[in-house]
Amino acid sequence: MKQILEANTTLYPVPVVLITAGIAKTNVMTCNRIASCSAEPPRLAISVRPTRYSHRLIKETREFVVNIPSPAQDILTDYVGVVTGKKENKIEIAGMKLAPAHFVKTPLLADCPVNIECVVEHEIELDSHTMFIGLVKAVHAEERLLNENGEVDFSRAQGIAYDWAVVRERPTYNFDVAELRRAVELER
Ligand SMILES: Cc1cc2nc3c(=O)[nH]c(=O)nc-3n(C[C@H](O)[C@H](O)[C@H](O)COP(=O)(O)O)c2cc1C
Repeated sequence: MKQILEANTTLYPVPVVLITAGIAKTNVMTCNRIASCSAEPPRLAISVRPTRYSHRLIKETREFVVNIPSPAQDILTDYVGVVTGKKENKIEIAGMKLAPAHFVKTPLLADCPVNIECVVEHEIELDSHTMFIGLVKAVHAEERLLNENGEVDFSRAQGIAYDWAVVRERPTYNFDVAELRRAVELER
C-alpha cells in the first residue's frame, strides 16, 4: 500500500559533498543538491540557495570546488551545513586545512579524499535555488582509491559519502570544537 506524498525531491541515496568557494577568504558549505550532468566534457551541477554566503562567493569568483568527505567526517559535514560563513570562519574553527587547486584559484579541502575543481559555465535560476553548472577542470584523488585504470573506485573507500539513509538537512545539536577538529583528521 502506497501513499501519495506532497511533491518533493525524495531521492536515495544522495551524495553529500562540501563545497569550497571564495579565493581571498574561503568558505565551505554542505551540499546534497549535486549531480553529474555531462561526460564529454565533464560537468557537475550544484544548486545553492541565494541566502547562502557561498552563493555570493560562487557568483563573484565563477568557480567552486567539490570536496567529497569520508564517513569519518560526518560531524564536520553537519557543522558546515548548519553554520553560515557570514557569522564565523568555519574552516578556521574546525581546523580544516586548505590546499591550492591545480587549475582554479579556489582552494580545496586537503583532508577530503577527493576534490573536483569546477569553473561555472551556466547559471540557472530555479526559484528557491540557483543551479551552477560547473565544467570540471581537475580531479584530485587519494591514491588508495584508484583502480588499475587510474579511476576513482569508491568501493575502496568503505562508504566514502555521508552514508545515512536520511539526510539531516537541519541537524540541531551543538558542535564541540574539539570533536570537529578530530573529525578533520579522518581515518585515512
Ligand atoms: C546534508 C545537508 C545538505 C545540504 N544541501 C544543501 C544544498 O544542496 N544547497 C543549499 O543551498 N544548502 C544546502 N544545505 C544547507 C547549507 O549547507 C547551510 O545553509 C550552510 O550553513 C550554508 O553555509 P554558508 O552560508 O556559509 O554558505 C545542506 C545542509 C546539509 C546539512
